[in-house]
Amino acid sequence: MSACGAAGRGERAAVLCGIGAALPATVVSNADLTARLDTTDEWIRSRTGIAQRRIAGADLTTEDLAVRAAAKALASPASVPVQAVVLATTTPDRCCPATAPAVTARLGLTGALAFDLAAGCTGFLYALATAAGLIAAATAEAVLVIGADRLAALPDPDDRTTVPLFGDGAGAVVLRRGTAAERGALGTVVLGSDGTQADLIRAPRPGALQMEGAEVFRHAVDRMSTAALNAAAAAGWALADVDRLAPHQANARITGFVARQLGIPEGRQLQNIEHVGNTGAASLPVLLAQAAADGRLTPGHRVLLTAFGAGLTWSATTVTWPDLPTPPQLAEGSPAHDR
Ligand code: COA
Repeated sequence: MSACGAAGRGERAAVLCGIGAALPATVVSNADLTARLDTTDEWIRSRTGIAQRRIAGADLTTEDLAVRAAAKALASPASVPVQAVVLATTTPDRCCPATAPAVTARLGLTGALAFDLAAGCTGFLYALATAAGLIAAATAEAVLVIGADRLAALPDPDDRTTVPLFGDGAGAVVLRRGTAAERGALGTVVLGSDGTQADLIRAPRPGALQMEGAEVFRHAVDRMSTAALNAAAAAGWALADVDRLAPHQANARITGFVARQLGIPEGRQLQNIEHVGNTGAASLPVLLAQAAADGRLTPGHRVLLTAFGAGLTWSATTVTWPDLPTPPQLAEGSPAHDR
């Protein structure tokens, strides 16, 4: 395991200054699934914590979702102009070219450096680490980081063991140059992978996802907990100092085990899987955007983020939540599909 750290970054720390999220309007409930799969609402809720997920139709691409989330992040009141765009996705709309330059162009940012990054459901934290590196190296003063996925396209539509788990969405943040002492400064990002276990989650093409669920479950709990411990230690935080645990929303039982292993009480755990399922690289930024909008996350909260995904990959980091004015597009009363 390695780490992209705050130490030595001096005045070139990466500081969170904007956030946004976008979800498709179409809701697929567990009841909708029971109409076509041999499953029950009770089984799905008790094994995963999921009640519904948002699904993108054929007319809503990964690129579209990314643009919507990114536009909101860039419109955040404290956001700044960016010179780089890093887009994490496992489900690009095509093999080539990458999604990020097209998203960048649609945002009116043509000329900014832009590339995709694939690290499964850990992609957003890998992208944060990459963005922090671009800022530390003085390649950019500010970076737009997007996590966008249409994971619902990966399972075989007839596979009851995987279809209920996944949803579609996108989330984005803006990181700007700042100091490590500021609220919003990203802590050390702990990163790791284990390709010897690659076959545990594999999708040779959309519609052909294969997953060893129980083994993935075990690795997810272990890797997310260990990475979180290491990230908290790197920040000099005791686990009792953590105000909010923000775990990748893979399965409510997985995140419950992680919280218990870390000794973080349930009330300090951010969760939205019930409403969105596992949205891959979008999972953490969507979770943070929703929690910031509805008051579960407030300025000064010490937030411990941790994620796990196909690869296998894992990562964790820390951030003290900044004084981000609540993005108007995420405020109460906004259209449900934009929250
Ligand atoms: N409805 C009803 N029964 C189902 C079902 C469904 N949707 N899916 C599986 N089952 C059945 C299985 O066929 C099995 O039946 P059997 O005992 O007769 O063989 C039984 O339920 C138990 O299956 P199992 O796979 O052991 O269940 P589980 O408790 O491990 O839960 C997962 C399955 C997929 C929910 C769980 O393993 C999981 O969440 N794994 C991690 C997945 C993940 O997060 N992936 C992404 C990582 S980023």
